Amino acid sequence: MKDHLVIFDTTLRDGEQSPGASMTKEEKIRVARQLEKMRVDVIEAGFAAASPGDFEAIRAIAETIKESTVCSLARASEKDIERAGESIQHAARKRIHTFIATSPIHMEKKLRMSPGQVLEQAVKAIGWARQYVDDVEFSAEDAGRSDIDFLCRIFEAVIKAGATTLNVPDTVGYNFPTQYADTLRQLLERVPNADKVIWSVHCHNDLGLAVANSLSAVLAGARQVECTINGLGERAGNASLEEVVMAVRTRADIFPVETRIDTTQIVPASKLVSQITGYPVQPNKAIVGANAFAHESGIHQDGVLKHRETYEIMRAEDVGWSQNKLVLGKHSGRNAFKSRLAELGVVLESEDALNSAFARFKELADKKHEIFDEDLHALISDEAVTPDQEYYKLNYSRVCSETGELPHARVTLTVGGQERAAESDGSGPVDATFKAIEKVVDSGSELLLYSVNAITTGTDAQGEVTVRLSRRGRVVNGQGADTDIVIASAKAYLNALNKLHSSQGKVNPQGGV
Ligand code: KIV
Ligand code: ZN
Repeated sequence: MKDHLVIFDTTLRDGEQSPGASMTKEEKIRVARQLEKMRVDVIEAGFAAASPGDFEAIRAIAETIKESTVCSLARASEKDIERAGESIQHAARKRIHTFIATSPIHMEKKLRMSPGQVLEQAVKAIGWARQYVDDVEFSAEDAGRSDIDFLCRIFEAVIKAGATTLNVPDTVGYNFPTQYADTLRQLLERVPNADKVIWSVHCHNDLGLAVANSLSAVLAGARQVECTINGLGERAGNASLEEVVMAVRTRADIFPVETRIDTTQIVPASKLVSQITGYPVQPNKAIVGANAFAHESGIHQDGVLKHRETYEIMRAEDVGWSQNKLVLGKHSGRNAFKSRLAELGVVLESEDALNSAFARFKELADKKHEIFDEDLHALISDEAVTPDQEYYKLNYSRVCSETGELPHARVTLTVGGQERAAESDGSGPVDATFKAIEKVVDSGSELLLYSVNAITTGTDAQGEVTVRLSRRGRVVNGQGADTDIVIASAKAYLNALNKLHSSQGKVNPQGGV
């Protein structure tokens, strides 16, 4: 019998801390539903004290998700823990995750607290959290650069206070697999009652070692891995869920553990998160990259045709690649549309919302004939925009582009209820369109990234555009999809502007108590 390895997904919390990756409540619910379908054990739904919007999103996830534990993050302060407790009070299974930094540099420079004060605060935090839930996780932030004797003392104290999972984060991605495994081994040996709790790892990817470090810790006795879809997360990201899960499964000869993940849901989850956050997946990314199972060289193709295992250690269908199937077409009816959305975890609240989504689906099916799951996700992302999230709206756009002439664009927008129009030349049709939009809105923002991806294959595919804008230190990603990429670009630009317009500041949990 193998031990169970708990898969703790933090895409909605640490993943969301990536620049511009913030998600709306509806988007978070869609991701949470997909994680539940994938049979993730614990979903870290967010940091409740970050903003009222984050609190509401956690509460909605807690009310929706039944099979996975819903976890709410809190700094080691009474106020944060109260917010975390309230945010998950209706969850079927709930956890509070509280943390405080334990490395000399964090304690001295960030917290300005002595080790004794940090230890005392950690113990109090567990007591506060236990008033709301029995399942309490404690993290020693920057454990990867903390003194091992101090780690032993603080972990011993929080076990006594009632923590049930102890997390050893390599917050800054500084550790090395053999060293990190040694830290885990020492903790398991030296901390009294270490066998009464679950030891967890949370690794960042600054040196590209997050997955290697997590797996080496599993071999040393860790039984929970914290990870994210596509490795999304602060800076270089977190350990990627798909790599951890598939390594454990593919190398069952090495790992004494197994997960309960439905691996066929991995690729759909990857696509959903990429589509919602606007973070593209690199083609050569393990497991979920477009080339992960593509064999270019003749020798490899020949080998795979003769016997798949000559060059493949996993089957594409086992991680969900075959799920990219044609689902609906021009003649599909309202019921087929509704039930496919339900299978994708999308529940439209009202008949009106369903009717309007169905009308847009018919428009798309007229242009494109074959509709895939990715098209439906893009359509629903557009549909989910509520009027208060749409201060700027595209009414009309026209571009003239001809050989030897500068492209010229004209746009008509609604800005706060009033119609405004402008025209501009540009070096290309997209440039001209963005310049015309800026003539109307004069946003003062800086364009950091513009990228286009075909959502599916074929020249009739929808282009999915991501635009990253920054203004006064705030970074947002906007998405837009359309079979016409200039219109998709205009939608993405306005989506980003709307986010800048409506976004309130959020507190970053790791900024200190
Ligand atoms: O990286 C980190 O230390 C964290 C903690 C909040 C667990 O994200
Ligand atoms: Zn982290």
